[in-house]
Amino acid sequence: MNIVVIGTGYVGLVSGTCFAEFGFNVTCVDKIAEKITKLQQGIVPIYEPALDDMVKRNIKAGRLSFSCDLKDALKNSDVVFIAVGTPTKKDDGCADLQYVYASAKEIALSLDDRYRLIVVKSTVPVGTGRKVAQIIKVNNEKANFDMASNPEFLREGSAIEDFMHPDRVVIGTDTEKAQKIMAKLYEPLSKDNVPLLFTEIETSELIKYTANAFLAMKITFINEISDLCEKCGANIRDVAKGIGLDSRIGSKFLQAGPGYGGSCFPKDTLALIQIGKEYSSPIRSIETVVSINEKRKKDMAYRIIDALGGSVEGKDIAVLGVTFKPNTDDMREAPALDILPILTKAGAKLKAYDPKGMDEAAKLLKDIEWTASSSEALKDADALVILTEWEEFYKITPTDLKKLMKGKTIIDLRNVMDLKAMKDEGFTYSCIGC
Ligand code: UDX
Repeated sequence: MNIVVIGTGYVGLVSGTCFAEFGFNVTCVDKIAEKITKLQQGIVPIYEPALDDMVKRNIKAGRLSFSCDLKDALKNSDVVFIAVGTPTKKDDGCADLQYVYASAKEIALSLDDRYRLIVVKSTVPVGTGRKVAQIIKVNNEKANFDMASNPEFLREGSAIEDFMHPDRVVIGTDTEKAQKIMAKLYEPLSKDNVPLLFTEIETSELIKYTANAFLAMKITFINEISDLCEKCGANIRDVAKGIGLDSRIGSKFLQAGPGYGGSCFPKDTLALIQIGKEYSSPIRSIETVVSINEKRKKDMAYRIIDALGGSVEGKDIAVLGVTFKPNTDDMREAPALDILPILTKAGAKLKAYDPKGMDEAAKLLKDIEWTASSSEALKDADALVILTEWEEFYKITPTDLKKLMKGKTIIDLRNVMDLKAMKDEGFTYSCIGC
């Protein structure tokens, strides 16, 4: 089976590469020529563990190729995935579907009358699949195709693992023929007992938003409980453990922190709110989640200022981690983008280190000195702020901190350090929910 994937962002590139790994022939198409030239040489433009090797291996095996020419790629295609971006529209929070619709038109203008299955993998509002089908029909009355919806649930930093070992695969289709093709595509997973959930297209589209909004709500809930813990003397780690052991709740996504970020939760919660409004069925719980999360990220800056006695004017602050989570170089909606400008405006002198995110962060954050290592950032600092829980930060000991830092104030927004060890060593240690 020949697959074309339109869009080489996270979703398109990871999905295309994993389908090639399953043994299918995959062509990934993108309009950005520079990106395609690099990918043809096996150079992956994003940091994602194990993706580089998998791309190179599949190019070498002749199963994975990259092109800017959609018309040419479509010639031998059987299945076409649309995996282009659906960013938030600035004016109303809706998902911007211009790239999805432009892809639909381009597909239509390139198709002959041989049957194709067109699959929307981008996260799109309910009804988009039907609209895509309509665009294709209007632009090419001979087009012979079925539509499907197949949302992704990949997390950055573990995207390959998530694709290869998902909890489930959600597939929305209208016809038996489309179902059979999708079942064939995911056979390597269903053979491993991964459930394939077949639904209507609208249901599949809504499952994606509902899942992400629910997870964002779970995080926001535990974040609020962590605030309560700090006031009443309870410990958030144990509260999370205590509720997570209840299988109805589950232990995942209960890590309290500075607020969720990334390319999906902020965008998808806003889009779900808009979908609710459009259908006069408001999702008030998620409206609240969004406003709590927005406020929380900024509040973290004032927590840091408070921990330093009410002023950061002239203080040297080491910042460890700036990406929205570890194992990615992605800065989209990272709490650092809210927190650090407030600190610099208040007169703090920031030295920051992140294992992968500094190039991207330097474009978005001004007046920060970027360092080549955590030790360099920590040298002579009055305070340490931890914003992202990178593995290497867990190895930093109180002795290291004592040796390097001038001051003894630690604000750990990811609960990386050990509370007791920090207190025993005489640090003023502030963490989340304890
Ligand atoms: C998310 C979804 O998990 C994935 O299924 C979807 O396809 C895309 O969006 P991603 O944005 O890559 O994935 O990261 P994720 O690991 O879900 O974390 C999102 C944000 O929530 C991060 O800022 C993270 O730090 C935060 N988070 C996550 C917490 O604060 N606490 C947690 O317990 C989990």
